Amino acid sequence: LKMKYVVNENCIGCGLCASTCPEVFSMTDAGVAAAIAEEVAEENRGSAAEARENCPVGAIEEV
Ligand code: F3S
Repeated sequence: LKMKYVVNENCIGCGLCASTCPEVFSMTDAGVAAAIAEEVAEENRGSAAEARENCPVGAIEEV
């Protein structure tokens, strides 16, 4: 089972995802979040899912 995430245009740059799961999410110079391009490693899946669930604007999508 592959698992990747994308951050959509709704991101307001709150930074919660990058704090919750820095292995997958980081903040760009534009002040929004970006997800790593690669498949999420097994050990990071819990925190990545938590980040997605807790984004205040629902900007993180599982793909
Ligand atoms: Fe943006 Fe949501 Fe992360 S607002 S910075 S994608 S928690």
